[in-house]
Amino acid sequence: LSVRAGLIEPDGGKLVDLHVAEPERGLKKREAALLPRVKLSRIDLQWVHVLSEGWASPLTGFMRESEFLQTLHFNSLRLGNGSFVNMSVPIVLAIDDSQKERIAESKRVTLVDSDDNPVAILNNIEIYKHPKEERIARTWGTTAPGLPYVEETITKAGNWLIGGDLEVIEPIKYHDGLDRYRLSPAELRQEFEKRNADAVFAFQLRNPVHNGHALLMTDTRRRLLEMGYKNPILLLHPLGGYTKADDVPLSWRMKQHEKVLEDGVLDPETTVVSIFPSPMHYAGPTEVQWHAKARINAGANFYIVGRDPAGMGHPIEKRDLYDADHGKKVLSMAPGLERLNILPFRVAAYDKTQGKMAFFDPSRAQDFLFISGTKMRALAKNKENPPDGFMCAGGWKVLVKYYGSLTPS
Ligand code: ADX
Repeated sequence: LSVRAGLIEPDGGKLVDLHVAEPERGLKKREAALLPRVKLSRIDLQWVHVLSEGWASPLTGFMRESEFLQTLHFNSLRLGNGSFVNMSVPIVLAIDDSQKERIAESKRVTLVDSDDNPVAILNNIEIYKHPKEERIARTWGTTAPGLPYVEETITKAGNWLIGGDLEVIEPIKYHDGLDRYRLSPAELRQEFEKRNADAVFAFQLRNPVHNGHALLMTDTRRRLLEMGYKNPILLLHPLGGYTKADDVPLSWRMKQHEKVLEDGVLDPETTVVSIFPSPMHYAGPTEVQWHAKARINAGANFYIVGRDPAGMGHPIEKRDLYDADHGKKVLSMAPGLERLNILPFRVAAYDKTQGKMAFFDPSRAQDFLFISGTKMRALAKNKENPPDGFMCAGGWKVLVKYYGSLTPS
């Protein structure tokens, strides 16, 4: 695949593609059948997907110890030529004592899904200690109990990590009706080229789009046009991997996003909607770097960041886990992300004097209403409406339907 002069180069210069070429699949499957097996969890499989398509380029598989340590301690990886790329969250695979014993001296293992189907071969493996506390403390900045990703994947995981180079036998599919939205970085690049984009601005999200989010995106477009770009394309890029239990599930968010485009809040002509396959860590300023880095690989050269990206409430205290401004500050300074234009935004809130979402003006704080996720949930659950101008009607209807589906009638 040719990388058009106009699109930003992937990290490491070349987009990684870890799929086995079609004619070799049969052979690889036969090889896979003879190797020791490691079972993948749902989230492990999402990481295989992420790695296979090169979102983490130039990473070629689950991290070995040197990559793990660089990620934990420097939020970056050093390449052979001495340059650095950003890499802020460990992409690792845990195994337990008995799995380690079964692997013994083998240099390769087969990764299998929950039905024992071979998914990939991991080559030139390295098995090393899984320092859970250190991993958690350095990734999240806290070891407070109740961090969703930690509880889901790390606490009960094995005491060893296994790294190596991946050969993925077949492209990962979910068969949930949404696979057509799961464009790989290479496919996104093709799409941007097809549309003749001269700038690509990415918006990461894991929540329904309200008009505050939309304001960030439309304002970015206006600024890019002002800067002289003729055809800036928005990548509306909802995260599609693991999210915590009280977030709106992907299928409902996709319906909601569809309405946002239908209702004209965003312009379908200049927007590409696609799913980012990564699981969510909720690791705030550390994770937002991963979110941004992955979008470079997909061809985005502008990245929108607003209030408290990848943040959540503290699991045991009544406050946000992270300072709401740190995400955008960190992103603007992050090693390895110098090539990416970061577009930091102030918090948007409902301006009662205008009856719409607007950038918060602290000099007239009393005019603004903050509609939190919790408040939105409460409104939608009770079939009440948010104030006019908070979200398009079609989008809100989807949320009311979703929350209605949760409460037994
Ligand atoms: S995230 O986990 O994907 O970051 P979310 O979907 O809530 O969470 O946010 C998507 C993007 O919109 C992030 O860049 C976030 O900072 C920004 N954002 C969310 N809400 C607001 C708001 N009210 N004002 C400004 N930016 C916001």
